[in-house]
Amino acid sequence: MVKLAVDGGTAVRTTPWPARRLFGEAERAAALALFDQAIGSGQAFGYNGAPEEQYRQQFAAFLGGGQAHTVNSGTSAVLAAVAGCALPPFSEVVVPPITDPGGVMPVALLNLIPVVADAVPGSYNVGAASLEAALTARTSAVLVAHIAGDPVEMGPVVELCRQRGLKLIEDCAQAHGATCDGKLVGTFGDIAAFSTMSGKHHATGAQGGVVWSADEQTFWRARRFADRGKPFGTTATTNVEAGLNLNLNDLSAAIGLPQLAKLPSIIDRRRAVADAIVAGLKQIPGVRPGWIPAGARSAHWFLRVEVDPVAIRVPMGDFVKAVSAEGIPVGWPYTVITSDAEWFRSQIVFGTPGLPWSAPQYSGPRHPEYALPQARLNRDRQFNVYLHEACSQDEASDVVAAISKVAQAYRA
Ligand SMILES: Cc1ncc(COP(=O)(O)O)c(C=O)c1O
Repeated sequence: MVKLAVDGGTAVRTTPWPARRLFGEAERAAALALFDQAIGSGQAFGYNGAPEEQYRQQFAAFLGGGQAHTVNSGTSAVLAAVAGCALPPFSEVVVPPITDPGGVMPVALLNLIPVVADAVPGSYNVGAASLEAALTARTSAVLVAHIAGDPVEMGPVVELCRQRGLKLIEDCAQAHGATCDGKLVGTFGDIAAFSTMSGKHHATGAQGGVVWSADEQTFWRARRFADRGKPFGTTATTNVEAGLNLNLNDLSAAIGLPQLAKLPSIIDRRRAVADAIVAGLKQIPGVRPGWIPAGARSAHWFLRVEVDPVAIRVPMGDFVKAVSAEGIPVGWPYTVITSDAEWFRSQIVFGTPGLPWSAPQYSGPRHPEYALPQARLNRDRQFNVYLHEACSQDEASDVVAAISKVAQAYRA
């Protein structure tokens, strides 16, 4: 039996992962051009100028139509998207069990009650059945997140929301270009939010986000919220509602433009690497690729791998530690279950703990308990492999070789 690197053996891989090189000459040139223009004209660049407008149009074109608005983070995009739905205050919004806090906190901050749905078998994501179990007479909207770039099975979710008259918000922070039944995620619901911070598939500089909708009214409401209620999309002449200043800016959008041009090839290259890993994993007893719905195509922000606790005799933490020691970037467990986070458990949203759950206008449970057995099980049994578009078939082979080596050593 070969000796694992974690036990002092030779690692499968001794060189680091290739650098991602997300930003290059095109992004530098775009930023410098904006500075040159500002210096030449004596006018500082700002926001809502030509680069931002161009980026918005090109982003909307990427999604096949509709309208895009640029904001300063993915969290801001979720906030503006939820605000754009104009939900009744203190109604319930169903949220994912496994996601970034920035994909949930906006709900509570808008005086809406987040209700956590369970995951579906084999996934970090929710599905129609788990969402339906979380619905009450107080539910006004469903917010789904396509975690890891793996699409939620959207057909039945759209149907559920249609039948129940619920708004549907898609958090596509991790899923630029992912598809479900050939349709891009983000285009299934009433409104979608994207994060364009520099860890994502494509970026508007260091931070950023996009809110997108094909529905005029929803879009303009989101846009007004994102800029202090300015009367965008109305004939009013003063600020028409309360909002925040969530604006992006022209410099970030200028950097985002060449990024957007690269996005299709970024997605293709991630898929090529992930496909090779998935094919290899299918040959290894005791592990398998994380489930995604039939007809879905992931954008692979990362790749989920499921370990069979009966076939593998060591705890998950030991398994992942051993794969990591073989030189592969992996992580486990992925994030904190939404309702286990301190802010959620202690209900610290506004000054007085308890709000919005404790508001007299809310008639649901003030201290809900969430078992979420499927989400916990899937989170316990799945670890993440961190791949990106600069990875090649070499990295894919190393991932498969390392997982195979560890699985063989630890097979029951
Ligand atoms: C699913 C999800 N939603 C929302 C966010 C928040 O995005 P940002 O970090 O750009 O605010 C993230 C960030 O990674 C995310 O993964």
